[in-house]
Amino acid sequence: MKAAPSGYEKRPMTQIAKSSTSKTQFARDLKDKDTVASPFLIKFSALAVGKNGKPFMNLILMDKSGEIEGKIWEDVNRHAGQAVRDAFIWVEGRCQVYQGRRQVVVNRLQLLREDEVEPKDYLAESALDPEALYSQLLGFVDSMKDPHYQALAQAVLKDDPEVVDRMKRAPAAKAVHHAYKSGLLEHMVSIAGILNHLAGHYGKYLDRDLLLLGGFFHDIGKLWELSFDRVTDYTTEGKLIGHLVMGVELIDRKIRELDSQPGRLPTPFPEDKKLLIKHLVLAHHGQLDYGSPKRPKCLEALILHMVDDMDSKVNAIRTFIEQDQTPGRWTALSRQYERYFYKPDWAMPEESGEGG
Ligand SMILES: [Fe+2]
Ligand SMILES: [Fe+2]
Repeated sequence: MKAAPSGYEKRPMTQIAKSSTSKTQFARDLKDKDTVASPFLIKFSALAVGKNGKPFMNLILMDKSGEIEGKIWEDVNRHAGQAVRDAFIWVEGRCQVYQGRRQVVVNRLQLLREDEVEPKDYLAESALDPEALYSQLLGFVDSMKDPHYQALAQAVLKDDPEVVDRMKRAPAAKAVHHAYKSGLLEHMVSIAGILNHLAGHYGKYLDRDLLLLGGFFHDIGKLWELSFDRVTDYTTEGKLIGHLVMGVELIDRKIRELDSQPGRLPTPFPEDKKLLIKHLVLAHHGQLDYGSPKRPKCLEALILHMVDDMDSKVNAIRTFIEQDQTPGRWTALSRQYERYFYKPDWAMPEESGEGG
């Protein structure tokens, strides 16, 4: 076990100057034997006991570039109260590769205040601009023809300030796909685009407006299923109810509001349309054992399920390939997909070295 660097115990915690807490080292770039001196957000923290009976801590440190494991071997009891999930900490230590995985052995840490960090350095975000995504989304809403479906889309996506605010920030998941800021909106717009093409392709056999509405609403419950101010996690409502039922509840409430406001709808919201949009949301996971209480029972529901599955896998695999650091043309093993992926040119590091 390594001893802490000399002077480590004596150096007062307050010595870290504010300017030094800015982010210059990123998790993704850390390599074997690198000296680490950088702030991170703690994604995961757990106390464990080694074979020798000594306590140690397992951490996952994150920033917008990705994440890296951390270990605290020394002074564990003192650090346990500081190195907690969702905390910003200054970390000093060393990166090493252990059993093929990079980890930071932490020699020193200090809790940072929120005003000492730039939160956007710690949360990965969509490569696409949320405002541009939002106007694309509204473009699809404006193109709808059915007055009831369109009014419902507007009531949720345009007129509800809480939805609009959360939609521009929410990730689509805790992990796996679109798991970054504005990821849900990116997923919604991507799906709407694909559904739009398919509606043209299959013509009269598909209800384009119902499909689009399904694309907008299938995951809308995630706005409250997940908390995402810092590390993304499930809320109590998310754990107990889940985004499918939460989405249906929102649709139900909005339709009741529309029906009660004179002049919002040409006629009361038709029962069949209400049932169909709820069905699309409830059936979008496709199978009972994936959390859908009903399997898709109309073409629109089946297509929404398949497009949702496709869009989330394309994003998940693309992200996996992008973040892979294995030298050569093949990624490390994807545990989720139980295979290695071939890395195309866009995923290969540039040859030019430092400047690239
Ligand atoms: Fe979903
Ligand atoms: Fe989805």
